[in-house]
Amino acid sequence: MGIENIVVEPLTEHIGVELHNVVFEAMAPTRPFIDMMKRLLDEHRVVLIRGQKIEPGTAQDFTSNFGPLLDIKRQGSGALHVPDAEWIKVISNGKTADGQLIGDGNSSAQLWHTDSTPWEAPVGHIAFYCRQTVDPAPSTYFMDMIKVYEALPQAMKDRIDRLRVIHHFFPRQIEPEIHRNAPSMPLEDRKLGTLHPLVRRHLGTGKPILYLPTRRDSLIPDMDEAESRALLTELWDFVDTCPFKVGHAMMPDDYVIWDNSATVHSRDGWPAEKVRIMWHISAEGEVPIPLHPRRTLNTIGLDPDKAREVNKGMAMVDY
Ligand SMILES: [Fe+2]
Repeated sequence: MGIENIVVEPLTEHIGVELHNVVFEAMAPTRPFIDMMKRLLDEHRVVLIRGQKIEPGTAQDFTSNFGPLLDIKRQGSGALHVPDAEWIKVISNGKTADGQLIGDGNSSAQLWHTDSTPWEAPVGHIAFYCRQTVDPAPSTYFMDMIKVYEALPQAMKDRIDRLRVIHHFFPRQIEPEIHRNAPSMPLEDRKLGTLHPLVRRHLGTGKPILYLPTRRDSLIPDMDEAESRALLTELWDFVDTCPFKVGHAMMPDDYVIWDNSATVHSRDGWPAEKVRIMWHISAEGEVPIPLHPRRTLNTIGLDPDKAREVNKGMAMVDY
């Protein structure tokens, strides 16, 4: 069976597709399937394939087509994960019969977020393979941040297109309880994150992405704290009103892969005494490229004073 038999069905009118007639284990190493998946992810952000039997090595190798694989397992936890599968992080709130953690994580709901934004080159693509869920199955949600950007009022686009934001580390920032109640890190610590464009360019399509830090207390250089917070809160509030999303309750043998640079995701929580098990594989993306990178004009041949004058006007963001 080849890719010519694959049927592509939209998950919603806005984001995501489901594929039918796929045998992932057999097709994943083949060039036509890899190219098809890359094209579908560029166009639709999220791809769902149900009912798959996938070996650890196959799942890892396929994700490596999108970038170097990343070890994002919590260090020092002693969790089992998948022995001999270095790049699979098991997300689970459960323990084995002899008390060992099955993987990383808990049963908390999660807020809209993009993974690993404080990294210089954040995760580009993420694959999920569901091994066990609970009843009722919690949903994972995805929002298309290219469409969110497109929907912003022009005045807001003009305001944010050239801004940068410092993405700082904040443990468990995606859990609603911590998001609501944990105090901000000291200002000095919040200055220590990674500077990313607030609007980045999607390499697959060239389109602008609204690229938000999860923390509303992140700092925008040249703004004071209150102004930064007000703008990030306004943007996240806008995200919450947008319809460009899909929710899917992952069932055992469901495989989902998504573009982490152009989406935010979230999930429902579930009772802590019930155990869900998910394989999670991450591939590195690119260093975010600003919609408006700083650049100079070609002034070779002008005298240095004149060249400086000309290029002053190109220094669009001055840190
Ligand atoms: Fe996440």
